[in-house]
Amino acid sequence: MSSEPLVLGIETSCDETGIGIVRGSTMLANEIASSVQEHARFGGVVPEVASRAHLEALVPSVERALATAGVRIGDIDAVAVTAGPGLVGALLVGVASAKAYSAALGVPFYGVNHLAAHVAVDALEHGPLPQPMIAMLVSGGHSSLLRVADVTSDITPLGATLDDAAGEAFDKVARVLGLPFPGGPHIDRCAREGDPAAIDFPRGLTAGKDLPDHRYDFSFSGLKTAVARWIEARQRAGEPVPVADVAAAFQEAVVDVLVRKALWACADSGIDDLLIGGGVAANSRLRAMAADRCATAGIRLRVPAPGLCTDNGAMVASLGSLMLQRGVPASAMGYGADPGASVSVPLVSAAADA
Ligand code: KG4
Ligand code: ZN
Repeated sequence: MSSEPLVLGIETSCDETGIGIVRGSTMLANEIASSVQEHARFGGVVPEVASRAHLEALVPSVERALATAGVRIGDIDAVAVTAGPGLVGALLVGVASAKAYSAALGVPFYGVNHLAAHVAVDALEHGPLPQPMIAMLVSGGHSSLLRVADVTSDITPLGATLDDAAGEAFDKVARVLGLPFPGGPHIDRCAREGDPAAIDFPRGLTAGKDLPDHRYDFSFSGLKTAVARWIEARQRAGEPVPVADVAAAFQEAVVDVLVRKALWACADSGIDDLLIGGGVAANSRLRAMAADRCATAGIRLRVPAPGLCTDNGAMVASLGSLMLQRGVPASAMGYGADPGASVSVPLVSAAADA
């Protein structure tokens, strides 16, 4: 019997109810109940719908995870939960549940930062995280470049999106192209049939004038507008829209900017380890371009498997487990959900509201 601690991780920041169980750095269960189909007809996540879905899915998902892991609830040594950032109502469901489990079991409770958890998940798949490393997190809700000296305690944000998140841009462009929500996987699939050089879409915040202030920041709203205008012009001219070419050229523009900036961050800070995570890290072109350019630049690249890149409970359990192993003091019960939580505080300690 292993003496490593058993950690339950709860993720409810957006539309996935994720329950993970980790022993040390071994993943035993990663159950996900998604409400994405309930949001599809609205073209985006509806917060109240997501909160209600979390309420319904949470306890059955914990039970499924315990069964998969082959452990009992009484075996759990600590509970970790995403405390922020995220949708406040959705976060509250997870935080209140985590506190209830923690109090009932008499074990520590860790309210953790969602972005830090996206980084920590890779320890489950590829072993101990290099220190320091650069992490680029790209999803429907966030696009961030981080310098991670220690994922449990020392993260410095280098840059973030000024407008749309990368995944949001994928979702909005997919909508304009008539593809279903969430659009990222559909654009990825369509783009395989298209020519990425067919249209030269803008690369936001890569021009010399933008670099002094925004070298590590992203902006995708100009690109999104450029794609919409290009499509409108074709439609006005009565010409068919070449969906595969638009998808490929748009995807190329996003991925080019992401990889370029991630490599700038590595080069500028003299760090040779890059991790890419978040839902958009499931994108096949991003994975391929990052692998190519990192190999050329001598950067070691870590990208979790697609199922660990999108929101899940194992990532939260992984971060909780690392905190427990490093002796980070647990959160007090008075600490609660923090929708605007900053990644520089991996253990959320905002004022109580849950
Ligand atoms: O991390 P995640 O599951 O949830 C958030 O925290 O947002 O990411 C979901 C986002 C969506 O915008 C979705 O369109 C995008 O990740 N996504 C992709 C791909 N798979 C998911 N974007 C591009 N290519 C993909 N293959
Ligand atoms: Zn996320």
